[in-house]
Amino acid sequence: MDAPQIARCVPDAGKAIHLICGPGPMIESLQEALGGLGVPPDRIRFEAFESAVATASEAVADGSTWEIRFAQSGSSTTVAGGTTLLDAAEVAGAPIDSMCRAGTCGTCRTRLVSGKVEGEGKALKQKDREAGWVLTCVACPRSDCTLDV
Ligand code: FES
Repeated sequence: MDAPQIARCVPDAGKAIHLICGPGPMIESLQEALGGLGVPPDRIRFEAFESAVATASEAVADGSTWEIRFAQSGSSTTVAGGTTLLDAAEVAGAPIDSMCRAGTCGTCRTRLVSGKVEGEGKALKQKDREAGWVLTCVACPRSDCTLDV
């Protein structure tokens, strides 16, 4: 399957939700092809078989605690280091959509208003990270943080 085949099968590909299941190189190839057809990243979904637990365990759980504020909902919570921002949002009742919970689908992409995090995942481009976007399912606080949720 390549971009011309997708364009033939899905005439208005940019408005469809694309679901991909298969080996990593195939997923990456189809993401690139769909991007070339103008499909926004949030309309491309795929099954990822990486462990969210393994990804989250890369974060430091050093006994530190951080306050996580949610600008739109006005809620906040205090979490231990190593807690993902997505888990913090769920505890605080600030909804963030998620799917893979492993940093690969991009569904949980949220703008970090302030603070420092670690854990990048694979679904963001460098320009997105520079613009303040984080993947909340793998990003853990390294300071007090405020999210645009
Ligand atoms: S839920 Fe998939 S990248 Fe966060």
